[in-house]
Amino acid sequence: MQSLQKNTRKDFDAPCHLIEPSFYVPNLKEDVRTGLLEAPYSLQPKYFYDERGSQLFDSICNTPEYYPTRVEDELLQLYADSIIAETLPKQIIELGSGTSRKTRRLFDACESKAHCCSYAPFDVCEPMLIQTANDLHSTYSWLDVSPLLGDYHAGLANLPLEYNRNLFVFLGSTIGNFEPEEAKSFILDLRNKMIDGDFFLIGADRVKNINVLNAAYNDSRGLTAEFNLNVLRVLNRELGSNFDLNKFQHQAHYNIEKGRIEMHLLSLEAQKIDIDSLKASFNLQQGEKILTELSHKYEFDEIESLLTNSGFELVKHYQPDNQYFSLLLARAV
Ligand code: AVJ
Repeated sequence: MQSLQKNTRKDFDAPCHLIEPSFYVPNLKEDVRTGLLEAPYSLQPKYFYDERGSQLFDSICNTPEYYPTRVEDELLQLYADSIIAETLPKQIIELGSGTSRKTRRLFDACESKAHCCSYAPFDVCEPMLIQTANDLHSTYSWLDVSPLLGDYHAGLANLPLEYNRNLFVFLGSTIGNFEPEEAKSFILDLRNKMIDGDFFLIGADRVKNINVLNAAYNDSRGLTAEFNLNVLRVLNRELGSNFDLNKFQHQAHYNIEKGRIEMHLLSLEAQKIDIDSLKASFNLQQGEKILTELSHKYEFDEIESLLTNSGFELVKHYQPDNQYFSLLLARAV
């Protein structure tokens, strides 16, 4: 790439910029107190992602059954040039950036157009942010990476925005983890933060054949089961609880009425669980369940109106022939 200036830094050395939450975000202990000490039992999906959980999620993405990551990446591969040509961003801000794997398609497109921009990955996990910034710097030496550390929803209001022509990206159908009302308020909070003319690229998994959906959350290698059970390991380690993973079973099914995958851990026998750091215990009957994740699936119209009802106009809609997944490019108006 000749016309993009090389960044002379050998290694990524800038610290992560800490983004303060603008509303109260409960910690693990508080969330577990609310979620497990009273029925209906629930745990939040964000606690899946310790190191092991993140690796398991990566492996899930490589199973034949779990199509969303693959399909979204194919869409990005096909349309990244079009997205960059349309938006010409000065800065790409990614909410929940993880390893930024799919976002590389956008940087590739910038390179092929000799379009220079900066990148602000926003995530809760500091080691991953630093690792990712280093990896990106070695592939894209021209890319100025400024990692932002914090809760990407609560932190929105406190994001430092240096430019106009920002491109916000929110990939992986993570929007599906929000309940419909939360999804609305999240999109609205994002829009309120954006400057008129800024762009938003969002990936959303679509409603489809129920067997395809159920298979995606019940892969034959049992990786999704491992991933689901892993949250109990996280609790055992972080809160000194004594969950016996052998006494739970992974369960995931598509709820047609609610339009969402519901993932649970089913108690295989009556049991009492102690949680040391809460100085509390709770009992589970055989067959009782802990809700661990909701993953909403969208009709195109639903995700479109989520955007257009919150001050966005739809610019482009990218989908594969089988309509399994949508990438929507919207502009703040
Ligand atoms: C990362 C939240 C989009 O809901 O499909 C994958 C997580 N859970 N398999 C999803 C997940 C079980 C995933 N999201």
